Amino acid sequence: MFMIEKITAEETHSIRQSVLRPGRPMQECIFNGDDDVQTLHLGAFTEGKLVGIASFMVDTNDYFHGKQYRLRGMAVLPEFRGMGYGKKLVTHGENLLQQKECDILWFNAREIALKFYNGQGFNIKGAPFEISTVGTHHVMYKKLS
Ligand SMILES: CC(C)(COP(=O)(O)OP(=O)(O)OC[C@H]1O[C@@H](n2cnc3c(N)ncnc32)[C@H](O)[C@@H]1OP(=O)(O)O)[C@@H](O)C(=O)NCCC(=O)NCCS
Repeated sequence: MFMIEKITAEETHSIRQSVLRPGRPMQECIFNGDDDVQTLHLGAFTEGKLVGIASFMVDTNDYFHGKQYRLRGMAVLPEFRGMGYGKKLVTHGENLLQQKECDILWFNAREIALKFYNGQGFNIKGAPFEISTVGTHHVMYKKLS
């Protein structure tokens, strides 16, 4: 039995660090917009343990028009992958953003996660680009309205 719940920015930090910034300082796990009142942080819990996270924050990309949110810090602990937590975090977030009349959800996706996002109905926009210390990324998006 698992649940998706709203969490605080601070609650995301340990999984952000272990999955997305291994060996990097905790300061790199704090993102611009984390404490914005419009930002949503979601956690996937199983038996009371936080096993996955996703954050949704207002941010604009010149590719898109309308009300935009950006997905950041999408991560599931290795031993809990392939069990649907990632998918549930994304779909739960999309439902909440639709209630906020968000038009576009976009993000910078790591190459390793492209198939996961393709399976959730996201498409690539533009050419791939590099983010130093993290690797090749693609802008991906989905229309929510
Ligand atoms: C990407 C990530 C969040 C996916 O989370 P998850 O909980 O394992 O994903 P789910 O179990 O919900 O998988 C949903 C679907 O995507 C597929 N999928 C998940 N990860 C995949 C991958 N790396 N490659 C191909 N398919 C993948 C699953 O097979 C599943 O398919 P189905 O719906 O046909 O059964 C997780 O692998 C992760 O934390 N990776 C490391 C961090 C990372 O890369 N984050 C993204 C940064 S942009």
